[in-house]
Amino acid sequence: MARALAYSAIMSNIVLNRPDLPPEIARRRTFAIISHPDAGKTTLTEKFLLFGGAIQMAGQVRAKGEARRTRSDFMQMEKDRGISVSASAMSFEFGRFRFNLVDTPGHSDFSEDTYRTLTAVDAAIMVIDGAKGVESQTRKLFEVCRLRDLPILTFCNKMDRESRDTFDIIDEIQENLAIDVTPASWPIGMGVDFLGCYDLLHDRLELMDRADRNKVAETIVLNGLEDPRMADHIPAHQLAKLREEIEMARALLPAFNPQSVLEGHMTPIWFGSAINSFGVKELMDGMAKYGPEPQPQRAEREIAPEETAVTGFVFKVQANMDPKHRDRVAFVRLASGHFERGMKLLHVRSKKQMAVSNPVLFLAADRELAEEAWAGDIIGIPNHGQLRIGDALTEGEALRFTGIPSFAPELLQTVRAGDPMKAKHLEKALTQFAEEGAAKVFKPFFGAGFIVGVVGQLQFEVLASRIELEYGLPVRFESSQFTSARWVSGSKDAVEAFSLANKQHIAHDSDGDVVFLTRLQWDIDRVVRDYPEIRLTATKEMM
Ligand code: G4P
Repeated sequence: MARALAYSAIMSNIVLNRPDLPPEIARRRTFAIISHPDAGKTTLTEKFLLFGGAIQMAGQVRAKGEARRTRSDFMQMEKDRGISVSASAMSFEFGRFRFNLVDTPGHSDFSEDTYRTLTAVDAAIMVIDGAKGVESQTRKLFEVCRLRDLPILTFCNKMDRESRDTFDIIDEIQENLAIDVTPASWPIGMGVDFLGCYDLLHDRLELMDRADRNKVAETIVLNGLEDPRMADHIPAHQLAKLREEIEMARALLPAFNPQSVLEGHMTPIWFGSAINSFGVKELMDGMAKYGPEPQPQRAEREIAPEETAVTGFVFKVQANMDPKHRDRVAFVRLASGHFERGMKLLHVRSKKQMAVSNPVLFLAADRELAEEAWAGDIIGIPNHGQLRIGDALTEGEALRFTGIPSFAPELLQTVRAGDPMKAKHLEKALTQFAEEGAAKVFKPFFGAGFIVGVVGQLQFEVLASRIELEYGLPVRFESSQFTSARWVSGSKDAVEAFSLANKQHIAHDSDGDVVFLTRLQWDIDRVVRDYPEIRLTATKEMM
């Protein structure tokens, strides 16, 4: 007889990894989902929120995912920033756990933003399409996670469609990404024959319900693979194949090792179908059980989550969330402590106290005032531009977080206001985008205009539309003689002498730092050769 397991029963067996932490911290899981566009990130997010009780109906997040696909839809989304912003960081309860899901921008043009987002999480879920395997964007994002040794759980999606052979997929991940892969579940059939999965971690059978896409799968508890009840649910030919495959998998693939997962050397893989809500709960369960609690954060000294003083850093700034008010929301990852609304925090860069009286927490379709938050949480702080990416907030310590980089742009263009009388407005708009991290803005030593640097062409179009929409100012982006930029460092005298001798290449970024604009690699080689006391860098730490 099949017996469905009540979900609460599964959850109550879960032990926290670090019982020594304050329980409110130990129960938090802060993570991002990484994937190549179309693999199913939006669908999976939606199902997470559905099971987390944060949304009532599937479909609320979808509008946003679809909006990503074209520029005009993107702009529509920008107009309707309420939705896009609330989805930038979403918090919901899952059993005894609090999940903070931080959204990574989907388009490859926004990779810098994505990189910074990944500095705010403790783990990632990598979604791959079962038919396509590891794709280019998956690989890039994976590499970023690897730089930070983030634990990664893998979800192989769309098993209800014709997919690749299970061993093939696992081999591809192992070889392509150089990480051990251990199956947490094993798919039974694929495409129209896909029945569900055998849960290797709990020796249970999970059957997919194709009739109701929002229903959690039926779970049948068995006494291992040889349990005769398997035959009640799986046709003989599929059962023989399943037993054979699992035997091979157990012999050939590395066994599940929770410590290795936490260290980022091994990724467990679950198979499922997000659109059918299948495999999603097991994945969430995996994140709760094997995912890391809030981790120490990198600063001049390491900050442990259990420290009682509140500290946090800004990893993202989003402006004009409400078109009626020019407010900005700074997204802050709390690194330590227990934050309470109304607290006064030191804004380390300006050395000023800030009363944080209206912090927001983002639930799926809403934002609400955060009365309190703990290490690991993401809170949004509305402000008028004081808070910038990389800024630290503390209870008094002059702390500087590290590891939040700014990358040299890969495309440069000059920008002009359609109406020359409105040059000041243009400057204001560009300053705002620079502070948001949406573009690099350089003021050349010679000439009156600005040079804007981005990572992908689409960003120029989005910026032009936003300047027109938010500032009523038509602008033109034109090609620039320069193709790249490098930050200049060295002693004050050396930088000054270098700047004077190379004025036609020199500009200042929005923080006033000196930048060398280049046309060819030759320009950089020349500086390296002729100015040994000068260092040119393609990244700059933001603070
Ligand atoms: P993304 O955010 O990673 O870009 O992916 P998204 O969730 O938007 O999913 C991309 C497409 O894949 C969507 O189809 C979605 O319905 C589909 N999809 C997601 N999960 C599954 C799954 O488990 N099985 C199958 N068969 N499809 C899945 P679309 O073409 O954009 O729209 P639709 O016309 O199919 O609804």
